[in-house]
Amino acid sequence: VNLRRALHRAPELSFQEHGTAARVEGWLAEHGLRPERVAGTGVVALLDSGRPGRTVLLRADMDALPIQEANAHDYASVVPGVMHACGHDGHTAILCHVARALVELRDTLQGRVLFVFQPAEEGVGGALSMLEAGLVERFRPDCAVGLHLWSELPTGELAITDGPFMASADQFEVVISGRGGHGAMPHQARDPIVAAAEMVLALQTVVSRTVDPEQPAVLTIGHISAGSAFNVIPDGARLGGTVRTYSKAVKSTIQHTLARVVQGVASAHGVTAELHYEEITLPVVNDPVICALAREAAARVGAFRFAPPGYRTMAAEDFSYFLDRVPGVFFFVGAGNPEVGAAWPHHHPRFEIDERALTHGCELLVEIARSAAAPE
Ligand code: NI
Repeated sequence: VNLRRALHRAPELSFQEHGTAARVEGWLAEHGLRPERVAGTGVVALLDSGRPGRTVLLRADMDALPIQEANAHDYASVVPGVMHACGHDGHTAILCHVARALVELRDTLQGRVLFVFQPAEEGVGGALSMLEAGLVERFRPDCAVGLHLWSELPTGELAITDGPFMASADQFEVVISGRGGHGAMPHQARDPIVAAAEMVLALQTVVSRTVDPEQPAVLTIGHISAGSAFNVIPDGARLGGTVRTYSKAVKSTIQHTLARVVQGVASAHGVTAELHYEEITLPVVNDPVICALAREAAARVGAFRFAPPGYRTMAAEDFSYFLDRVPGVFFFVGAGNPEVGAAWPHHHPRFEIDERALTHGCELLVEIARSAAAPE
């Protein structure tokens, strides 16, 4: 709780986690590990039991969000406009204490545990930058485990779901170029606003008409802009949005259909359209064998309740890039409790967690790491 509150007070944005990384390095060194920097503000440390077994990668994310905190407690953010509004302060504190506990338990440990403190989870490539630094090639982890404190589940509840668990997130932008003109003489212009409007509606059919109804998918237009005067047809328009799915195949179908619809509508209106499409994360897909191991570990730790089988969310997580390379599990630890103010959604200026969930996260990761690192 103390460590989480200290981190909460001093949040840092993606790839700027200098103070947080220094604190984590100090903590790990103080507890007998040899931390190393990876990808700027990322920190890793290896605990080797010296006994045969597997290598388990445990990951926590460290970054905060560009949000002005609206909570008034005495550990509220002191950095204007920056807030730990997703619980990553808790994840970092949990993994620090897991490292401390596993060092203390070294004599009973088998295999190796790699602690990964990742920068920049919030949509800007922190996981990929750590993987590109060669983590997998160098440490050859056999499995990867991560958790998220989750305020939508009550404290004491866990969601450990086989297969797809969180969605992929892509982002796209369409830049439409027409020909501007007088609002009274549309025949002399190529109106990009009408083209944009039709594009927004036509894109609503991408999911409903090209994706298997058994496969969840979302295509949302999140911004649109054009023009500045009531009697002027502008030269151009822009719109953009996000695509979410649970499978790489569905994601690729949507990407291709989106391009076809955008070009088709543009051509029908005599305007041109440029599509910029960018992958932010892959879907989080859990390995059923490691999920079973995690549920057994949870049952040994204590009296947790499990969320209904198949619990998933369309939110995204870049831990998906670890799971794309290494089998593993990403799971939710319930941290919602209105009695302590933990009743707000993630990314809300009043976001809060029930700090009892910190203990749950520590106990679970220690137990999962011990059993996953044991030889087969
Ligand atoms: Ni998060």
